[in-house]
Amino acid sequence: MDKFQIVGGYPLRGTLDIPTAKNACLPILAGSIMCSDTVKIIDCAKFSDIIYMTKILEGLGAKIIEDGDDLVLDMSDIKNFATSDEYTKKIRSSIFLLGPLLSRCHHAKVAYPGGCNIGSRPIDLHLKGLRCLGVKIIERHGYIYCDGSNMHAGDIYLDLPSVGATENIMMASVMLDGVTTINNCAKEPEIEDLQNFINAMGGKVSGAGTSVITITGVDKLHSVEYTPIRDRIIAGTYMIATAMAGGDVTLNGASANHLVALISKLRQSGCQIDTYCDKIHIVASGNIQAVSHIETQPYPGYPTDLQSQMLTLMTVSDGTTIIKENLFENRFNITSELTKMGADIKVVDRMAIVRGVKELNGAEVQAQDLRGGASLVIAALRAKGYTTIENVYHIDRGYSHMEDDLARLGAHIKRIV
Ligand code: UD1
Repeated sequence: MDKFQIVGGYPLRGTLDIPTAKNACLPILAGSIMCSDTVKIIDCAKFSDIIYMTKILEGLGAKIIEDGDDLVLDMSDIKNFATSDEYTKKIRSSIFLLGPLLSRCHHAKVAYPGGCNIGSRPIDLHLKGLRCLGVKIIERHGYIYCDGSNMHAGDIYLDLPSVGATENIMMASVMLDGVTTINNCAKEPEIEDLQNFINAMGGKVSGAGTSVITITGVDKLHSVEYTPIRDRIIAGTYMIATAMAGGDVTLNGASANHLVALISKLRQSGCQIDTYCDKIHIVASGNIQAVSHIETQPYPGYPTDLQSQMLTLMTVSDGTTIIKENLFENRFNITSELTKMGADIKVVDRMAIVRGVKELNGAEVQAQDLRGGASLVIAALRAKGYTTIENVYHIDRGYSHMEDDLARLGAHIKRIV
């Protein structure tokens, strides 16, 4: 298994282009099942989760070719509504396949999804929403069987604003007769992007980005070329990496509107951040001020996907920071690895108390999940001496060759295969 070897102490300087977002491309790829024609995804990100999703689609009958940076999907021949276990179990987002398969085939069979070990990750809201649309669901022997022969439009209330449940129900409703509403839905930018993708194929979805989404059923969707939004979590990760290592970095394609909470916290920590319509410029001295309190919340609150990175930054701040994780209970698994590097972190239930230390030291550590793994890279950029990070495959799920990006900015990092 691949490892990263990093020598800390080098500032980051230069410019990076931010790729399209994993969390936008995944539901868009799943949503392409609803189209019986060709879907072209411009600049489609190439992380390992995306590759697994394309393998699942190929198993259903899609013909997919890479055209430079774009992916072209011929969806005319989808005959199968049961997804392959091999790839379905690797990614959490395989659960989104239920909605589009029901739209296209009126049936779906999906194994329980895999993904990061960041918490229990129930799927009750997905299933409850689909049941409100008349889907009969049987859960047996590790599979979810859905019969949508008698589906109808409905009025759904989500007990929590779940991103995946919102996207799944949106896709299940696109071709139902009548109007479906999803109340208390999630407001993440990737949901608005999915709405724009569906509408570009002739769908009628409105309200994404607010807490009520309305879907008016259409008979059919048509061929489309679509460019997904850029990855706010990668942009945020590299901003925090710059804050940690010190330096001067411009992130092309990054949207400041999608990163308001992070930008506010990084400014409090002492970074200078200039925002433009299509890029973010960050300058950091390496002297990090503690940020009194950070609490993860659904968008537009502070994102859980940038919590581990910020916790890591605070390990070398000039004071104490309290971090509360409200979404995924295992996000603090990273603290055992950061402690090996000299961090002072105490975890009590969903709260971490991070006392800044003068410096971190290089160590042998293990990535345990995607964002936690990226955070160990951030720690290593500053730590004295060598750090080796094992299980880099977690990081590859959501960053395409992170080592190349960081090396281009001046980091001393290499992948050991
Ligand atoms: C998506 C993102 C993930 C991000 C998360 C929260 C994708 C592919 N992944 O994951 O990167 O960390 O949003 O921003 O877009 N919940 C339930 N029952 C359900 C579904 C969710 O209780 O049926 C709970 C979860 O345990 C969690 C909260 O709702 O506490 C939010 O989860 P959700 O928004 O569904 O996350 P994902 O869609 O899995």
